[in-house]
Amino acid sequence: MIEDPDPVYDPVSEESHENPYPSYGRLREEFPLYHVARHDVWALSRYTDIKEGLRDWETFSSAKGVELGSYVQFFGPGSIQELDPPRHDVLRKVLAPRFLNKNIKSYEEIVRTTARHLIGEFLEQEHVDLATEFTQKLPIATIFRILGIPESDLNWTTQAGLQMLSRPPGESGPSPRAYELRAELVAFFESLVQGQRGGAYSDDVFGDMARAIDGGTMDLEEVQGLTLLLVAAGMETTTSLLGNMVHALGTGQVTGEELSSDHGGPSSTVIDEFLRFDAPAQWLARVTTREVTLHGITLPPDSRVLMIFASGNRDPRVFDNPDELVLSRDGSRNLAFGEGIHFCVGMPLARLETRVGIGELLSALPNFELTGSPVRYPSHVIRGFESIPTLIRR
Ligand code: HEM
Repeated sequence: MIEDPDPVYDPVSEESHENPYPSYGRLREEFPLYHVARHDVWALSRYTDIKEGLRDWETFSSAKGVELGSYVQFFGPGSIQELDPPRHDVLRKVLAPRFLNKNIKSYEEIVRTTARHLIGEFLEQEHVDLATEFTQKLPIATIFRILGIPESDLNWTTQAGLQMLSRPPGESGPSPRAYELRAELVAFFESLVQGQRGGAYSDDVFGDMARAIDGGTMDLEEVQGLTLLLVAAGMETTTSLLGNMVHALGTGQVTGEELSSDHGGPSSTVIDEFLRFDAPAQWLARVTTREVTLHGITLPPDSRVLMIFASGNRDPRVFDNPDELVLSRDGSRNLAFGEGIHFCVGMPLARLETRVGIGELLSALPNFELTGSPVRYPSHVIRGFESIPTLIRR
């Protein structure tokens, strides 16, 4: 491994974990294609470069994984995020209908009931950690119900999912425990799908998978990657968005009134601006399939390139005063949900959870403020909070 004693940017450094935005600014202005020697990856930081790169999946492939180091392809077979067409498109079609905007509305009641239940658990307390008790639990509880996990198994699967995905500082890859939990969860998910083969399919994602396997469009082993991707994508990212809003409320950066314009919850415009300002997934990678020249540098095939969505979202060529959170701004061109064939399947669900979740929180706790220091989520990709200690004011 080559070391650069003073890198402009290192995606896994402590500095990037705390606040990557100053480095992104330097990258965009001085090194729009930057070689991070320590990881032998190239960083793309300007909005247009990222957008065009993501659209050109034939050159910038996902098939060799979208992460760094031993996190690459942790989910295994079936994870569409780490597949190119044609397999990507076939499997995406198994999932996509359930997550369409028009179909996702039927989950509003599940999200609302889950949010109310979680809030009820701490409503009478004076102090609560809104990250561990709310922003982390709402997305995973919701996605597990949509997958089709029986009510009686929600507790242990939620704990196992949270633990499997946690990345303690300093760990450069999944822990042995994460692999054990993955094996336990996958065996359970596969048994739920197998149980429906050839019979009546349940009205959930596992039912859709059983039907696809019976119809010959999906293999049983692909249940692993497709489900783990949904667990991870459906949880960490939305947790981060909710946490960023809760944090902004708790520090007084925004008011409850500003966040409650759409049926008591944040409007689409407000959600977009939060996503633009602090993208939950800061970056994901691609690997070149051929020689590509960008900004006068020629990359050989097999070069790993980081697409830094969060930096594109702060590109002054696209957004005025990009380092300011302006709730009235039209931030809808943000790259937080990606671009092209891998564009986020769960966007409508993430928006629903945020509108309903924050709306419910604000109506039950109109006044709260942070006590102590919030702790950032231990991940080099996901930017969010693991702990948000809060005082509830009555
Ligand atoms: C605020 C919340 C969310 C954000 C910021 C987010 C972000 C993203 C991004 C950036 C990608 C593109 C990945 C790439 O290009 O390699 C993506 C893909 C994906 N997301 Fe989300 N996501 C969110 C919520 C969700 C939810 C709730 C689900 C659950 C259904 C979900 C499921 C997926 C899936 C399955 C993919 C892979 C799509 C493909 O490869 O074709 N996401 N997401």
